[in-house]
Amino acid sequence: MAGSSFGTILRVTTFGESHGPAIGAVLDGFPAGMPLCEGDIQAYLDRRKPGQSAVTTQRKESDTVEILSGVFEGRTTGTPISLLIRNADQHSKDYGNIADTYRPGHADFTFDQKYGFRDYRGGGRSSGRETACRVAAGAIAEKFLKDVLGIDLCFYTKSIGDVEMDPANFDRSLILSTPTGMPDAEANEKAMALVEACRMKLDSVGGVVEGRIAGVPAGIGDTVFEKLDARLAHALFSIGAVKEVGIGDGAAVSRRRGSENNDDFYLADSGSVEKRSNHAGGILGGMSDGSDIVVRAYFKPTPSIAQPQETITRDGKSTMLEIHGRHDPVIVPRAIVVCETMCALTLLDAMLVNMSARADSVARFYQRS
Ligand SMILES: Cc1cc2nc3c(=O)[nH]c(=O)nc-3n(C[C@H](O)[C@H](O)[C@H](O)COP(=O)(O)O)c2cc1C
Repeated sequence: MAGSSFGTILRVTTFGESHGPAIGAVLDGFPAGMPLCEGDIQAYLDRRKPGQSAVTTQRKESDTVEILSGVFEGRTTGTPISLLIRNADQHSKDYGNIADTYRPGHADFTFDQKYGFRDYRGGGRSSGRETACRVAAGAIAEKFLKDVLGIDLCFYTKSIGDVEMDPANFDRSLILSTPTGMPDAEANEKAMALVEACRMKLDSVGGVVEGRIAGVPAGIGDTVFEKLDARLAHALFSIGAVKEVGIGDGAAVSRRRGSENNDDFYLADSGSVEKRSNHAGGILGGMSDGSDIVVRAYFKPTPSIAQPQETITRDGKSTMLEIHGRHDPVIVPRAIVVCETMCALTLLDAMLVNMSARADSVARFYQRS
């Protein structure tokens, strides 16, 4: 299938269907010599795993990763890193009634139009399960960013439905301990109640993931087609159910005056160029400007709901559909780590690409200066 690979120098390819024997990823172009073991990756996969709280599907998947290649004696070898996750909890019969019926909000209709044939079990390639592969590969990129380059990625739930976290209450330690992934205890309680109310009505709800990436040097990214904001938007839009991406203040800038929106520059005591504000979200002209990179992904409500919905069968008959499989009432809490690791892959790739941008740095690398 076309479109299963992402990246330029650091390139990830994912494979597998949600109800096949296994899913996985091949990460090529990763530098040799970084210490890596399965536990490094598993910690990230465990954040995406279903069945952990009331706001995620009760489907049980162990999501245990196996490294098949690219690591020797505990260090990356520079060769393709192959990662395998066996599918354990498949329950194909849960999806029996959607074999010939198009689920509203899903890829069933468009998949059939494109290929004339589809793996209907749990959405096949279009399943949220595919994102486990990206998390596994992206965990490796994030480890490099953190351990080798000192770059910190902090992603969390900004809002669920109309419940939004209050930045004044921001507590990073709550991201991994609240079921919603909100770094605000009060907002988490309200969001939990909202999700429960939706579940009781056999409904689902949308939300927003926000991320801050700190420690990125200025000048990463390109000026035209490969702008860093364009690359990050590509990465986030490639995740199922994302319907809008924001960088910095995002869509709000369209309602402002230039005088409000520009981030004034000043010279800090250290001599470095700083900005008084960060409406731009750390990217100017497609290149990082040295301040925090701020991104947001806006998720639609989970399309699979148990309420009766009007739809069409493959052979063109009108019908009503109720979906009774096990689905997340809200996608956002499990998608946080997906957004984070997709941004890690994107950023590390852009940083590797950037190494050939200047003659003097190429000369320095080959010690010819
Ligand atoms: C982490 C994650 C989990 C998901 N879980 C579900 C789910 O349980 N049920 C469902 O109907 N959709 C789920 N989705 C969303 C569908 O995969 C997605 O909406 C569908 O493929 C259609 O693609 P589109 O929304 O991008 O148009 C999930 C998405 C992600 C990223």
